[in-house]
Parts: sequence; structure tokens; C-alpha cells
Amino acid sequence: MSINAPRGTQDILPGASEKWQYVEKKLVDLCRRYHYKEIRTPIFEHTELFQRGVGDSTDIVQKEMYTFEDRGGRSVTLRPEGTASVVRSFVQNKVHGSPNQPTKYFYIGPMFRYERPQQGRQRQFVQFGIEALGSDDPAIDAEVLALALDSYREMGLSSLRLVLNSLGDLESREAHRNALIRHFDPHRDELCADCQVRLDQNPLRVLDCKKDRDHPAMATAPSILDYLNTYSKEYFDKVKEYLDVMGIEYEIDPNLVRGLDYYNHTAFEIMSDAEGFGAITTLSGGGRYTGLVEEVGGPATSGIGFAMSLERLLMALEAEGVELPIDEELDCYLVALGEEAEKVSVRVAYQLRKAGIQVDKDYLGKKMKAQFKTADRLGAKFVLILGDREVEENVINVKDMVSGEQKEIPLDDIENHMKKQLLGGE
Ligand code: HAM
Repeated sequence: MSINAPRGTQDILPGASEKWQYVEKKLVDLCRRYHYKEIRTPIFEHTELFQRGVGDSTDIVQKEMYTFEDRGGRSVTLRPEGTASVVRSFVQNKVHGSPNQPTKYFYIGPMFRYERPQQGRQRQFVQFGIEALGSDDPAIDAEVLALALDSYREMGLSSLRLVLNSLGDLESREAHRNALIRHFDPHRDELCADCQVRLDQNPLRVLDCKKDRDHPAMATAPSILDYLNTYSKEYFDKVKEYLDVMGIEYEIDPNLVRGLDYYNHTAFEIMSDAEGFGAITTLSGGGRYTGLVEEVGGPATSGIGFAMSLERLLMALEAEGVELPIDEELDCYLVALGEEAEKVSVRVAYQLRKAGIQVDKDYLGKKMKAQFKTADRLGAKFVLILGDREVEENVINVKDMVSGEQKEIPLDDIENHMKKQLLGGE
């Protein structure tokens, strides 16, 4: 009986993995320019971190976590997102004590959520995310938004939409929360079971419900923007002003509610408008969080960040028909026939690889003609041929597969010759 990979996971094979490497490299370079440094945290954490960090009432904690007891009887969870772990690490390593604030991190790694798999929604997916901790300057909100957009634009994507909202500070949220309860309470029985619970625990999340989306009370629900106090309103205005000075376009959606509990002030999502992108149009999301560092035992420190999955980024690239500049060719393929030639070819392959040249050879004892066929299939730029005669005369034949030209080179010169051909010169 064959065993398949679990539902909602995927193998990334050569042909695709080069695309992953390409986008990861571009993202790392983008972070370098914005001066965000990489952090790597464990893939599993104590379950309590996510219960407290992400929030007990969220779908992630209630329905989607891969939680299990380890052999020591502790409850651990495969991380469903990166923010809680980054904040835990920030507190545990006392990074808040460093004079270099804000602390600016990025991460790339697998996350796990037990969701119903569909295109763009998997149970294991790779998130790229950033977190800036230790500043509540609205300019850093704008910086995070700019980096988020750049991470798509620099790949060549253009059908993008930045959707922005402010969830206000605690006082504003409290006022809005009470208004939401007053508004939805008369309709309580008409809402789905989940929303009836949400109405008591976190009424903001009612606005995010897929089932009750078309209920008439949704359209008339009180908008957070009408409940922002002066500080929150001014904060939001500043973020918008900084986006304006960078020439970044955005649209305001007062109903934008994120699926995690920790947000206040700035909340945003980037959507793809590309045709054929699929049912899920959200590419990434993020926002500001204030209570999270305290929640995991640190001093009052606020942060802002965002995350995207590389799966959705690659989907968007496909939907927009962006061709990534990926070189799938092979520099050299060594063709050898005869025992002595085989020995020399092993030595030459080793020598060229050490010199920085990409080399492959036959390992199946194929005939000369079949070896040439393989070189062709692999897209080799040069085929290096060694037979008994070449070994005897201490030479090697170099065939340029593009021009068809063939040259005999002294074996001692092969490294220099190939370097000139492939790594510049001539
Ligand atoms: P999130 O909205 O839960 O936020 O996820 C962010 C992004 O991760 C989504 O927009 C999507 O690209 C991707 N994603 C989420 N679930 C899946 C899935 N099942 N399959 C594929 N992709 C998925 C967070 O995770 C926050 N930690 C973001 C953040 C960082 N906020 C502040 N800092």
C-alpha cells in the first residue's frame, strides 16, 4: 500500500523549488534594504503561547491548531503563525532591553493550520513575515505597509489592492464593541451559532463572518471609524499621510477585521485583483498590536507586522503570467567512455566544481550516444568528451552545444578554458 502526503500539504519538487528559492532570495534582499534582520524560532511552542497570544476566541485557536501532548505530558502546538513566537522570543531574550529599538525582524518558515484545504489554503504553508517591535510611531506602520506592497511589486505583480482600516485603541474599541452589541443583540437568534458566541466574546469578529455576511444587519453595523477617539483618529491620519508622501495608494474598508485577536490601530490586507487568482483573494495581512508583549510577560511594548504565504504569492505570479528569471540550464556534462576515461572524468568533474563550475556526468554506464542525449535533455551548455584516445593524448574535447563548435583542449588547460567560457571573458 502506498502512503501519500497528508491532505493540505505538498511536495515542492525541482522545477518548482527554483521558484521558491528565487522569491525567498528576493524577499531576503528586500528586508536587507529596509533593515529587517532574520529571526528563526522553533516550529512548535507551548500551546499556551497561542491561546494567550493569538486569542482564545479565534478560529485558529478554537478549531485549527495542531496540538498534541509530547512524551513528557506537556501540551505543545505546531505554530499556526509567527507573531506570537517572535514576541515570545523578544521577551525571553530580553531584546526590549537593547538600545537598538525598534527591533525589526523578518522570518520565513512553515506554519500549520487544520483548515479545509482548497487552492491557496493549506494545512502546512510557508509564511514570510516581518515584525517591528518597540515603536508606536505611525511612520513605522507606513514602512511595514510599504515593505508589504514592495514584496509583491518587486516580483513583477501589479494587480494589487491595499485595504486599510483602523481598529483604534482600547478605549475606541470598547466604545465600538458596545455599539456592536447594541446593534446585533436584537438579531441574536438570526445569527449563526459561532456569531452568537462571538457577540459576547468579541463582537468585532461578527463582521468577519462568512455565513452571516448577507444578513441585513451587517450593512448597517456601526463603523469603527465613527468610534475612534482623538488619539486613534490622529494616529490613523498620520499613517495615511505617510502613505501619501510615498505615493502609495490604498482604500479604506471600515469592515476590515482580522482573524486574530491582537490587533488595534492599523489593520490591513493586500488583495490580488488578478483574473484567475481563485476564490481567496487575500495575499497577506497584518497590523499593529499593543497588548501582546505584556500578554507573554514582557514590558508594555507595541509592535506592527504582517505575513503572507509564499503559496499565495506564487499563485499570484502564475495568475498574472509573470515569468521568473530562472536558469534551469547546466554548465557542463561530462561524457566518458572507457575505464581510464571514466577515472579522468571523475577527476575533471571534481576540479571544475571546485572552480565554481556546474558539472554533471553519467552514472549509469550508458553508451556514448545515450550520454549525449542526456546532456541534451539536461540543457548542458557544453559537453566535455573523454575517450581512450583523448586520455592517451592528454586532451579533452569541448563541444559548445549552442554553436555546435568542437575544440580539443589540453587537459591541463580545461579549468581555465571553461572558466573563460562560463564565468566571463571571451
Ligand atoms: P493571517 O491573516 O492569519 O495573519 O495570515 C497571514 C497570511 O498567511 C494570509 O494572508 C495568507 O497569505 C497566509 N495564510 C494564512 N493561512 C493560510 C493557509 N491555510 N494556507 C495558505 N496561506 C495561508 C497572521 O498570521 C499574522 N501573524 C500576521 C501578522 C504579523 N500580523 C502582525 N504581524
